[in-house]
Amino acid sequence: MKIEYLGHAAFQITTEEGLKILIDPFISNNPACTTPVETLNPDVILVTHGHVDHFGDTLEIANQSQATVIATHEIATFIQKQGLNSIGMNIGGTVQVNDLISITMTDARHTSGIDFTENLEEGGVATGFIITLESGKKIYHAGDTGLFGDMKMVIGDIYQPDIAILPIGDKFTMGIETAAIAANWIQARIVIPMHYNTFPEIEQDTELFAQLVEEASPGTFTVALHPGEDYTEELPQ
Ligand code: NI
Ligand code: MN
Repeated sequence: MKIEYLGHAAFQITTEEGLKILIDPFISNNPACTTPVETLNPDVILVTHGHVDHFGDTLEIANQSQATVIATHEIATFIQKQGLNSIGMNIGGTVQVNDLISITMTDARHTSGIDFTENLEEGGVATGFIITLESGKKIYHAGDTGLFGDMKMVIGDIYQPDIAILPIGDKFTMGIETAAIAANWIQARIVIPMHYNTFPEIEQDTELFAQLVEEASPGTFTVALHPGEDYTEELPQ
């Protein structure tokens, strides 16, 4: 399994059997992203909410790759109106991508207007995703969110992700102190920070974040990726 950081909240996961899952593909207008949009050829696209720094190039990439987009009912309806494939779901639900891989939609504390249309369209609520891989390993992409108690009660205790991708930029999401509390509640082995340093207003120090995580949650290791870098785990032989 490989998790590539494309910058901001955009990640591409290549699963154990080679399926490509692209999340929040803000690519062409993303000052932190160096990946050309035309090189992306995912099987599935996940969109956490309607804001342009997450929805990004979803329409173009879905069109060029014929990938299915998974999002809330409201965002899926918007995508279907453009003639593209989209599966609408909602918080608490799970959809199977195939026999072994599933996507569960989680709560997030944020807003979700589709903000790049002429008249701001309703985008339902903001969400996160738990991606369950072929091996049963789980990756949590929190989307944009503030700290909320169900990160402990639902994400940590019930879903128990192995890897948690958490926003740390502050202003629009958790900052480093609250994200370190989230890491402690979620109890993943690995935490990957996101949604920082794309713009001056969300500048953060990832070394300080890693230190806070280590203090709050000694069993959790922080992996801070630069855009274009990846984190890989091999299956045990
Ligand atoms: Ni947002
Ligand atoms: Mn955002």
